[in-house]
Amino acid sequence: MGFEVAQVLTEPLADVEPGRISEALARAAPRQNLEVQAWTPDSDDAHRWTGLAESLGQRLRGLLPSPTGPAPWLAQVCVLGPSLAAVGAVAWRDAVSRAPGGRERQRREAFAPSRAALKLEEALQGYGLSPARGDLCVDLGAAPGGWTARLVARGARVIAVDPASLTPDLTRHPGIRHVRASAFSFEPPEPADWLFCDMAWRPLEVAQLLAKWGRRGWAVHLCANLKLPMKDKNPLIHRARAILGAGWDELRVRQLYHDRDEVTVTAHRRG
Ligand SMILES: C[S@@+](CC[C@H](N)C(=O)[O-])C[C@H]1O[C@@H](n2cnc3c(N)ncnc32)[C@H](O)[C@@H]1O
Repeated sequence: MGFEVAQVLTEPLADVEPGRISEALARAAPRQNLEVQAWTPDSDDAHRWTGLAESLGQRLRGLLPSPTGPAPWLAQVCVLGPSLAAVGAVAWRDAVSRAPGGRERQRREAFAPSRAALKLEEALQGYGLSPARGDLCVDLGAAPGGWTARLVARGARVIAVDPASLTPDLTRHPGIRHVRASAFSFEPPEPADWLFCDMAWRPLEVAQLLAKWGRRGWAVHLCANLKLPMKDKNPLIHRARAILGAGWDELRVRQLYHDRDEVTVTAHRRG
């Protein structure tokens, strides 16, 4: 989550008048269309103030009119301690995440070959994207098959490319074709609707490969996870962005809640 801070409160929050917070919010966003999100940062230390954040949020909601439109401003109360909170707002369309504190938490399903699927679900749900029934998806770096399982569950057909094995249930699935090869030597038999990629490989080489798919028109939509195990991630993100921008339109690069040392990229091809 990111937002412009309108005011920092440094007083006991249990006693603060919610009117003081709504005044600070009025400087940041229109009062008529505000959805209140009160949260703590996601750390063991800050979780101690979750109850305080919730009660503050409730008191504030009691004071403000209910949001009127489908795309409200997100009023932010970030509680950092019993006497410390940052208050501000962010427009719905500009928000890094629409979930309070950016915690778009997904539930792991009973049948899930890997926790990697949580990242895919967060990206698809968060951006309102989904392959349609019958769409052809290529999943690069697919094993053991968490992403592939979620895609066939949506009715898509999947070509799963990975030298490693998929879980046995998936190899028998009629909607899945496993190509046991490196993604760098794979060419699709026909243009795909979607390109997915969660390959554990060097991010700039992966970006080059994905850009080639875009330039050659081998897929219309892209959803990929780039691994960034290095300490200094920003220069690589900038370079990967530039490489991907040469093959794809409407590029979005974000670190999602379920991403660790990774970022998730979505993009589409116009025309
Ligand atoms: C994080 S796992 C993918 C997890 C998968 N998305 C899931 O949900 O189960 C990374 C995968 O990348 C694969 N990989 C690494 N290099 C590859 C390459 N050159 N071509 C295809 N797959 C590759 C590995 O074999 C590994 O299975």
